[in-house]
Amino acid sequence: MAKIIQRKDLFIVTKLWNNFHAFERAKQHIMDNLKQLQLDYVDLMLIHWPTSFDGKIGDPNTPPDHLETWKALEWAHKIGKVKSLGLANFNHKQIDHVLSGAKIKPVVLEAEMHPYYQQKKMKDYLKKNGMALIAYSPLANPGQNAERGFNVLTDPAISKIAKRHKKSNAQVTLRYAVQQNVAVIPKSSSPKRLAENMALFDFQLSDEEMKQMASLDRKKKMILMEHLKNHPQYPFNDW
Ligand SMILES: NC(=O)c1ccc[n+]([C@@H]2O[C@H](COP(=O)([O-])OP(=O)(O)OC[C@H]3O[C@@H](n4cnc5c(N)ncnc54)[C@H](OP(=O)(O)O)[C@@H]3O)[C@@H](O)[C@H]2O)c1
Repeated sequence: MAKIIQRKDLFIVTKLWNNFHAFERAKQHIMDNLKQLQLDYVDLMLIHWPTSFDGKIGDPNTPPDHLETWKALEWAHKIGKVKSLGLANFNHKQIDHVLSGAKIKPVVLEAEMHPYYQQKKMKDYLKKNGMALIAYSPLANPGQNAERGFNVLTDPAISKIAKRHKKSNAQVTLRYAVQQNVAVIPKSSSPKRLAENMALFDFQLSDEEMKQMASLDRKKKMILMEHLKNHPQYPFNDW
């Protein structure tokens, strides 16, 4: 018999894009987003980037305050359209600002994190503020970034650990994040690799292996959005 998946079995996340940070535009965008997804509600909605493009329509130097966008998310929560609220790509000062005025606190930050960019300070900061981290590009996007000189799939230190556990380098990399209570969203076009990336719960890295993984940090961010460097809300001049 075919297995029927119900809405309650799924956790659906969507994001609010940069063109819709102003309060009324954000509200409309949330409703349009749900309509496009053909959903009554989403489980989590994130502000995708702190860099608002609304300013270009009005004054590029005065983009809407993040709390304005946040209030639109709170409105959507209040009417039952979004269950939980979060941020993506915000730095700690920008998160502080949201926390300072939020009636409903962000539950999560989605940000780049992988063995070469481990985000120690951010992880500590989020823990202190009761927020979770979702690691994007958790495999450091090996296809695109191998030529930059780092690749989790061929890293000898990761290979050594993987061999010991009879797991792949990708699995050890993802397990390292999960074992720190970080959620991971690896992307794969292959069903086989998707399954591989979920098989993370039948082994455990030892304290020594966790230390070895920690030592791989190069504090090297891949996604810099350099074309937005002069934007007043550009996040990556700070952690
Ligand atoms: N919030 C944001 O601003 C933001 C920014 C960047 C990314 N993200 C999200 O984060 C997710 C993942 O990020 P990402 O795609 O940049 O990087 P990633 O997940 O670290 O790497 C994806 C690459 O890894 C390969 N791969 C996946 N599993 C593998 C495995 N088990 N063994 C070998 N290769 C494997 C994939 O190739 P195959 O397809 O061939 O398996 C793909 O080329 C995406 O859903 C993306 O939308 C969010």
